[in-house]
Amino acid sequence: MSQSQTAVIIPAAGSGQRLGVGIPKALVEIAALTLIERAAQNLSPIAANIVIAAPPGFEENFRSIFSQAHLSAQVVVVTGGATRSQSVANALAALPVTTKYVVIHDAARAFAPTNLAELVIAQLEAGERAVVPALDVIDTIKVVDERGYVINTPDRNSLRAVQTPQGFTRDAISAAHASGADATDDAALVALLGIPVRVIPGSALARKITTLDDLTWAQELAVRQ
Ligand code: C5P
Repeated sequence: MSQSQTAVIIPAAGSGQRLGVGIPKALVEIAALTLIERAAQNLSPIAANIVIAAPPGFEENFRSIFSQAHLSAQVVVVTGGATRSQSVANALAALPVTTKYVVIHDAARAFAPTNLAELVIAQLEAGERAVVPALDVIDTIKVVDERGYVINTPDRNSLRAVQTPQGFTRDAISAAHASGADATDDAALVALLGIPVRVIPGSALARKITTLDDLTWAQELAVRQ
């Protein structure tokens, strides 16, 4: 059982500017639970440790939330960075030495189910070094230049919309962040090292809460759950 050797990192230091609610997005409440609590609760069963990167200045708010949350995993709060990659790097530095598998999960994907993370871990246990959940894309995607003209149209069959939780061996993710490089997800940094990234089916529940529409979706889902 890998639970004792698994740590979850939750980058939660985003400002939530696109949501426009005036507080860090991770502290937005849906049916009386903040996004960060929901994200941590859903992933707590798979891990011994959870390291959360909080927006600078909000560390104590996060600590106070988790002092009362009673999760089975032990929660540590670190200060987030200026970019998502930096927030993850700060959290990596706080992992216990016993960590073998690292699952990285956006606070904004607060409704991702526990079993999605379990499927990611199962792939790591089977020998993969990097695993990402992803959905097929429905729209035709175009690459566009800065003047607004289409450059090309990648074959839709080879495109996927990638989500979190993403899973890595500790060695792979530490090496990926060692250079201080920046990317919108962690798998991109691991792939730069030539490490194969395994794609598994994602979940509609792992939707990233970014806009007011997403918030409405989350509120309706929370009422139904
Ligand atoms: O900005 P984006 O939507 O890609 O953010 C994805 C996740 O990364 C969010 O959970 C957000 O809180 C986190 N993030 C962070 N540090 C930053 C920017 C974003 O932890 N500087």
